[in-house]
Amino acid sequence: MNELDFSTTIGNAWFPSPIFTASGCASSGRELAQFFPLHDIGGVVTKSVMNKARHGRPTPRMAETPSGMLNSIGLQGPGIDAFIAKDIPYLIEQKARIIVSIAGETVEEYATLARKLRSVAGISALEVNISCPNVENRGLVFACDPDASRRVIDGVRRTIGGEIPIIAKLSPDVTDLVAIAQGVVESGADALALINTVLGMVINLDTMRPHLGGTTGGLSGPAIRPIAVRAIYQVHAALPKTPILGMGGVSTGRDALEMIAAGASAVSIGTASFTNPTALISVQSELKELLRIKGFESLRGAVGFAHRPEGVVQ
Ligand code: FUM
Repeated sequence: MNELDFSTTIGNAWFPSPIFTASGCASSGRELAQFFPLHDIGGVVTKSVMNKARHGRPTPRMAETPSGMLNSIGLQGPGIDAFIAKDIPYLIEQKARIIVSIAGETVEEYATLARKLRSVAGISALEVNISCPNVENRGLVFACDPDASRRVIDGVRRTIGGEIPIIAKLSPDVTDLVAIAQGVVESGADALALINTVLGMVINLDTMRPHLGGTTGGLSGPAIRPIAVRAIYQVHAALPKTPILGMGGVSTGRDALEMIAAGASAVSIGTASFTNPTALISVQSELKELLRIKGFESLRGAVGFAHRPEGVVQ
């Protein structure tokens, strides 16, 4: 039997495995590295970093929900300079493949981040997070506005140059996701991350007030998986050549395969790691085994399979 080709590509970046951390759920990988070597997975997508250090939103910042959780972290982080000084060298030392996620409050801030990162060695790709739901006003969710999303990606593309692939991270909380996806790809995104968390809210019935300090939060976990699968399917149908990093409630190899069949070329694991820190490793081996059982010779052969007419095998 031929060896399974489990590799994937995002723009010009090659990864031996399609399983990545999800931005925000593993910081820069230090906690997960206690459980497995970071180079054993496809790559580490770091917590979205902003230009300046940031405390994030007031507590409480998490709530458990049926089949999921809400977070309202508010992009807490060390700022790009400290991140470049401490986190990138750590990840390089671990031989991890690094996808740096950036977030900004203005188009200029994104370009500044890209400028600071463009000469940093060891970065495989850049995730441009334009869809964090935990910002002061919805007007700052660039991914909800086609023009604003284009402007951010265009600014990052011009600044970073052509070498580093750009992955635009989009929100499912829009009426026409395909139009936003087409816009950012036209503006220079090589790939798309689908989906960020879904805007949600919990009321504390003891206080009769919003539970989260930030009032609303982002819903993640298995509760949102069908939304993610739908988003991936719709966008892959419209942009079949654009790689998609799928995410949203994946905790098993079957969940990952569902996203791949819908059109994802890689899959991120986030919330599942909170309850099972080795989830990335188990999803990776389960997915490999499932692909073999189903007779695929490569991961690529399964990407977008659900779009093919009945009877077409690879
Ligand atoms: O609040 C946060 O830091 C979450 C960011 C995101 O979901 O993009």
